[in-house]
Amino acid sequence: MSHGTRLEDRLIEALQPIRSFALAANLYHLFQTGLFDSLCACDSATVSELAKKHGMDEFRLSTFLRYLANEGYVTESEQAFSLTSKGRGLEKFRGWYTLMIGGYAETFLQMGDKLRVGAGNATRNAERVGVGSCAMSHYDAIPLTRRLMGHMSRGCRRLLDLGCGNALYLVEFCRMSPEIEEAWGVEPDRAGYESAVKLVRESGYDQRIHLYCDSALGFLDSGVQAAPDFTVLGFVLHEVLGQSGEEAVVGFLRRLVDRFPDLHIAVIEVDWQITNPTIMRHGLSLAYYNPYYLLHPFTGQRLETLPFWEQVFAKAGLEIVAKETTSPDVDSTRLEVGYLLRRAR
Ligand SMILES: C[S@@+](CC[C@H](N)C(=O)[O-])C[C@H]1O[C@@H](n2cnc3c(N)ncnc32)[C@H](O)[C@@H]1O
Repeated sequence: MSHGTRLEDRLIEALQPIRSFALAANLYHLFQTGLFDSLCACDSATVSELAKKHGMDEFRLSTFLRYLANEGYVTESEQAFSLTSKGRGLEKFRGWYTLMIGGYAETFLQMGDKLRVGAGNATRNAERVGVGSCAMSHYDAIPLTRRLMGHMSRGCRRLLDLGCGNALYLVEFCRMSPEIEEAWGVEPDRAGYESAVKLVRESGYDQRIHLYCDSALGFLDSGVQAAPDFTVLGFVLHEVLGQSGEEAVVGFLRRLVDRFPDLHIAVIEVDWQITNPTIMRHGLSLAYYNPYYLLHPFTGQRLETLPFWEQVFAKAGLEIVAKETTSPDVDSTRLEVGYLLRRAR
């Protein structure tokens, strides 16, 4: 091998992160523009059909689709494009793109500046974070929450979701569990709350599900008449911890069970294991948890270890009824953990 070829090989290898960066952004756009759904709904479509349907520029669209064809996600035949099986296979993973690219791509680009002492937090798109997280939860955290619910002696009839994102949890639980009479969703991000209003309206559950644009702590202070027997805090306590500190989290959990003494609480969190080399070698750790861990200190969120959360629950006067992790079919890292809690007896 000549010296020149060896340099080219090293260049190709060195540029793979740039290839992945552009690809991740453009797969997100494939979903977000509605092009993915259009291509899924038909065998194939011409550029002019797609451009007309989505109000797009034909030359840019054809370049976009040819770029994705070169990466193996679409294929072109007789001027028409269709998704390859690799492209169609992405469908279930849309939520990860919504969260990590729609929610946090802007964050990743700000990190260099935000490393400086006193630089403040990087921005994120909170609505995309909530929507993406809920779409991912469909596969991991919602089944986990159902398993936690199974440990309650009485089933759940009145459900409160604090930090509900686009309210997908509430809609899915109302659909799966007709015994849920009433549900409340609380989401502080205005755009996230509006996505929730839209989803609940479309689901037809707007008589059963009531939505509030507020923080978890603000909702407790608001005097809203609600009588939940089960509340879920899915990836929300680490947000409150980052915003308001440990004492505030302890005080919030205490007040929650003071106000609703028979309440069961499901807390779902990701265990902070960024320094654990065995766990961080796992394929899903490198593909997802490593960048997921990275973005938290830059956005004012504070992930913590399980012993930390367990001492917070004890300080708040809660006991652990059950502790579960995700199904290994979806995530075998055991990093995502759910607790079922109630006031200590
Ligand atoms: C990672 S998302 C989780 C969404 C959903 N609960 C799930 O399990 O997929 C975190 C959500 O918490 C919301 N959030 C942030 N701070 C909050 C607070 N102080 N009180 C309630 N929700 C908060 C965010 O707007 C976002 O929708």
